Amino acid sequence: MSRYEAVYGDWQRDPEAYWRQAAQSIHWTRPFDRVFAPEIGPFGVWFQGGELNTCFNCLDRHVIAGAGERPALIWDSPMTGQIKTFTYSALLRRTAKLAGALARLGVGKGDRVVIYMPMVPEAAIAMLACARLGAIHSMVFGGFAAPELASRIADAKPKLVIAASCGLEPGRVVAYKPIVDAAFELSPHKPHACLIFQREAAPASMVAGRDHDFIEAEEAATPHDPVPVAATDPLYILYTSGTTGRPKGIVRDNGGHAVALATSIPLIYDTHPGDVMWTASDVGWVVGHTYIVYAPLLAGVTTVMYEGKPVGTPDAGAFWRVTQAHQVKTLFTAPTALRAIKQQDPEGKLIGQYDLSRLQALYLAGERCDPPTAIWIEALLNKPVIDNWWQTETGWPISARFRGLGLTPFKPGSGGRACPGYEVQALDGEGVVMKQGEIGSLAIKLPMPPGCAPTLWENEQGYKNAYLLDYPGWYRTGDSGAVDSDGDIWVMGRTDDIINVAGHRLSTGAMEEVLAGHPDVAECAVIARIDPVKGESPLGLVVLKSGVNRPDATITAELVALVREKIGPVAAFKEAVIVPRLPKTRSGKILRATMKKLANGEDFVIPPTIEDSSVLDQIKVSLGV
Ligand code: COA
Ligand code: AMP
Repeated sequence: MSRYEAVYGDWQRDPEAYWRQAAQSIHWTRPFDRVFAPEIGPFGVWFQGGELNTCFNCLDRHVIAGAGERPALIWDSPMTGQIKTFTYSALLRRTAKLAGALARLGVGKGDRVVIYMPMVPEAAIAMLACARLGAIHSMVFGGFAAPELASRIADAKPKLVIAASCGLEPGRVVAYKPIVDAAFELSPHKPHACLIFQREAAPASMVAGRDHDFIEAEEAATPHDPVPVAATDPLYILYTSGTTGRPKGIVRDNGGHAVALATSIPLIYDTHPGDVMWTASDVGWVVGHTYIVYAPLLAGVTTVMYEGKPVGTPDAGAFWRVTQAHQVKTLFTAPTALRAIKQQDPEGKLIGQYDLSRLQALYLAGERCDPPTAIWIEALLNKPVIDNWWQTETGWPISARFRGLGLTPFKPGSGGRACPGYEVQALDGEGVVMKQGEIGSLAIKLPMPPGCAPTLWENEQGYKNAYLLDYPGWYRTGDSGAVDSDGDIWVMGRTDDIINVAGHRLSTGAMEEVLAGHPDVAECAVIARIDPVKGESPLGLVVLKSGVNRPDATITAELVALVREKIGPVAAFKEAVIVPRLPKTRSGKILRATMKKLANGEDFVIPPTIEDSSVLDQIKVSLGV
């Protein structure tokens, strides 16, 4: 019997009492004056007047309580053949020293630090060291190219960049340092120093006077004490794709974040101090921030950090090997990883080779989990499969099933029920709540709960425009879907031009900007094609300027290379097709949704506003569908 209704009801009846109680799980250096202050910021702020240090809550607190010898972080890297365990005391020692090194380089409270690192423990140490100083970190995923790194440096204006010399991808070493150097050239803002974590696979050459060795600086430093910050001060900025080429700087505060994350670990994951949680994501994404680094450590849990892939490192049994080796209780990944495993091991033979008796449940997020994949893995593991729907903006799940409360029924394809803190409804175009089961625009009733982004970095109006203006009193998630009669939420897709490639959120607008920058391109559209493993993959449709007579194949190869150079390999942009024209409405709007259906072989109605429907036939021929 699930206690979900009772707990959700407690929150609904008195949200402030619910969050005041939840805030007791955090150590405050100054108690907050008000649980919620509605008059500040776009929709209000949580725990106003309170002061805390997030790093203290992640590390020192557990050491002081006598849990210093408990493993805090286990690094498992099939890419290097290494496994390393850091106890809470060891992680604290290294973090406090690195914080001392950062302080010596002039980093203090409120300063920004951009971190460009792969899945190495030093990435988590760098994040925590910033948090210790009250500095604001901004992680950039390693699969982004120099111009993307530069745009984040330009927007966040960091004092310092922390980077690794390289990342390791199957079959290739990705030298990060040249990307950092190029980003410094491109960005109008020049950070004054760079801390480089040298890795054996590709040590970096250093720029004299600007670059410092991470380990040498850490070893030479004096440990730094945690600096109390306001609950409402930013902990980090994480850039994510919006509908334009310019990424949005999602701001996370300290207080609400700590309370929400610490609450989520027992509630959703039924995970407790000493348990082992493994989130197979990347620290460059929000899932990595939340469930590789901050939430497990806030809760005194052991976190596993994995530098490898679901397949190919060395095989499709990698997830089960790691789960067995580290006695993982709580496993979290993206559906795309499961589809990759399923493709190589459809009968789950490798699953049977490992002892997964400690594993209690499998959590999924990053994209909708298609029912066949959910059913397949649930049957093979014989453990609950729990979809979590959330986004960079929210920082923790909007909906889930709640192991800590007794599970609600498994409905493959559904994202579960709203977490206490969120009221979710599907709205029609006028902002009216739709009937149960009807698909509309998914929205969250304001105020957003603790942990959700209070604003965008230095762009409060941008926050209002993006999320609050369409439906007064609601936050627009940008997802479409329905809420059924049990209260289960079904997320069906985006209402904007964002696509989801292998659990990575990407902007087709950003790719279109790159394609449009090619000298031969007159106009273009990027749409999502259904991909059996990655969910979606981008497809560029390009109209050439008149008079261009270079071979199509040469131009399309240049376009693929250009997106990789400007956005990065993560865009997974592999296909551009030259078409005679793009279908448009009479007012000149490109009909992307219609082309998407056409490209994916789905039924579609020819929009009555189309300027010339014969263009669709030409596109069919160009795509061979
Ligand atoms: N640094 C540099 N390059 C990176 C990178 C990183 N951190 N991560 C990915 N890339 C590169 C890859 O090497 C690949 O390059 P390629 O075009 O030369 O092959 C490209 O970016 C695309 O990578 P990816 O989307 O990961 O595709 P893949 O084919 O290498 O792997 C999966 C497919 C499904 C195995 C992989 O996408 C995966 O594990 N996905 C899980 C996603 C996830 O955890 N998302 C987080 C949300 S919860
Ligand atoms: P990101 O901000 O990168 O985490 O991406 C957030 C977007 O990914 C959401 O707005 C959804 O479109 C999609 N998404 C994430 N998790 C889920 C899920 N469990 N079900 C459906 N869509 C999801």
